[in-house]
Parts: sequence; C-alpha cells; structure tokens
Amino acid sequence: MIWSLQENFMKIPLKINLANIPTPVQKNKFEGCDFFIKRDDYTGVELSGNKIRKLEFLLADAKKRKSDYIYTCGGDQSNHARATTIASTALGFKTKLFLWGNKNQRKDGNLFLNDIAGAEIEYLTKKEYFNVNSIMLEKKRLLEKKNKSAYIIPSGGSSNLGIWGYINFVKELNEQIDLSKIKGILLANGSSGTAAGIILGCAILGIKMKVFPVNVLLTEDEVRSDIENLVYGCIDDYKLNVKINFSNLEILDGYSKEGYKKISKEKISLIKELFSETGILLDPTYTGKAFKAFYDNFLKNKKKTNILFLHTGGIFGAFAKKKNYLD
Ligand SMILES: Cc1ncc(COP(=O)(O)O)c(C=O)c1O
Repeated sequence: MIWSLQENFMKIPLKINLANIPTPVQKNKFEGCDFFIKRDDYTGVELSGNKIRKLEFLLADAKKRKSDYIYTCGGDQSNHARATTIASTALGFKTKLFLWGNKNQRKDGNLFLNDIAGAEIEYLTKKEYFNVNSIMLEKKRLLEKKNKSAYIIPSGGSSNLGIWGYINFVKELNEQIDLSKIKGILLANGSSGTAAGIILGCAILGIKMKVFPVNVLLTEDEVRSDIENLVYGCIDDYKLNVKINFSNLEILDGYSKEGYKKISKEKISLIKELFSETGILLDPTYTGKAFKAFYDNFLKNKKKTNILFLHTGGIFGAFAKKKNYLD
C-alpha cells in the first residue's frame, strides 16, 4: 500500500501555489448535533472555494504552454469562472468567459468580481451553452489566426489534470484527522471533478470513506458517468497504479428540484438557521442544497454524525440572491 501511495504521489503534475491550504477542519454543532466541517470556503477570500485547488494545476499547465488567454465557461454566477478570472489575471493571462445567462442583468456577486477584474465575457443562451466546448474551440482557432494562444479550461475545471486538486485534498485531510473515524464525506456536485478527485485520492491512500455527492446540475446517471470518466481518465493519463471500484460512491439525488439557478424557501430558511447558530454561510446554488441533504440524511434529530460536510465555497452567489435571503 505504502509503496503504491508513494509511487502514485510521485506522479503529481506541476502546480502553482494559489490556495490557502491546508484549510481547517472544524467541530461544530447544529440543532444539538455535533458534526465536522472541512472549510474549503477558506481557500482564499477572492479565490474562495473548491475551484482554486484545481486551478493550481490547470494554470501551471497554461503557464508552461505560454498561453496568452484563458478561456473557461459556466453559469453567470459561476464560482469557477470568478476564481479563474482572478487567479489568471493575477498571473498575467487575459481571461475570456463564456457564460450561460442574460447579458443585460445587474452585475452582482461573482459577475461583479469578473467585471472589475477585467474579464471579457460572452453571454450564451441555455441552448447555445450546450455547445460551449465547441464554441470555445472555434474561438480559440480564430485567435490562433491572430498569432495568440488560448488555454481552454472545461466547466468547473474538471479535467483529468484538474482533479489532482482533490486527490491532494484527501492526503491533506488524512493528515488532519483520523479518517478511520469518519464514515463519509458529503459535498455539492456540479461538474463532478471534486467528487472524482476525492474518490481517486481515497483509492490511492486506501481510505474506505463513503463519498456522497449531491447533484445540483446534472442527473444522477450523468454524474456517475462523469465521475467514472474523470477517474479512469486520470488513471490512464498519469499511469497510476491503483485499483478502483465505485462501491463507496453514493449520489444523493433530488436536492435541486427547484433548478440549478434557484433555491427553495425551505432551503433558504435552513441556510439562515445554520448561519445564525454557527456563523457558517452557505451559497444558494451548491452548498445550501448539499447541506439540506446532509441535514435530512445525517444530522436531523441526531446527537452526532461521523459524516463530514465539505464546504466548497460559493459565498459570492449569496450576494447575487440577497432578495431570497432577505424575504
Ligand atoms: C461552491 C461550489 N461547490 C461545489 C461545486 C461543485 O464542484 P464540482 O464542479 O467539482 O462538482 C462548485 C462548482 O461547480 C461550486 O462552485
């Protein structure tokens, strides 16, 4: 095991240090139930959230390739797009975002930060967004005709390279707490790279922790297949010596029935209760929905839980939805 662990971690690709890590693991109490929370919302202030761990690898690759532009995509309040803009601008790249949303909306939350950081933004309709990867590729080709290069980061930074951020995360967590006492980790799932990295990190380290992704954007079947593709893709690309089975993967479906860009009143009231009891703020798109799944399945009416909640950030999304929080 140890041999395989060292062998696999020797294959870690090049990275740039951008995140404030290790992030703390805190013991908290909500409605009388003790639980652990890993604060990946503390990876930074402007760079807050899970995306920066993936960007450490992706932007190092872009730098190595001497790219002029970083192209990426997401919803109009994408935390990934905001973290990409801020990190890539600071590293000297130009940033272009392809966002699903309305061009004429007020620039709030993540959009506000993208705007003042100087990102170029192209807005796409939901229908156009289905083809965002081909659109980015086409624009990259046009740019190359002007002798400039673009590095394309897929949605959420979830690629065979990006998920190294969450393979490393498992090593970090394992050095912080005794994972034999933690039965599982629960997290919001969008583009599936965070969950894929955790599954692979657990396999490399021989950790038998359950992984509970809460799908907020894609169907359960899509998430399962995306996670499997990312895990096998990373194993192939980096010739990892690891046996994988997905028996520890349990997707908690049905917590985003209101839609990706919306949040129910019931969830908002849970978010506000958690905030006033603990000071922990959740976002409306990802962590607020994941916490509802955590509450229903592991926390409600319990004295303690050995399932850890991963706070993946998203705080600026709350500002864009302040009307819902205030209602
Ligand atoms: C705050 C937050 N939490 C969770 C996720 C989901 O992570 P992933 O896309 O790796 O599934 C995202 C992005 O999609 C996010 O912005």
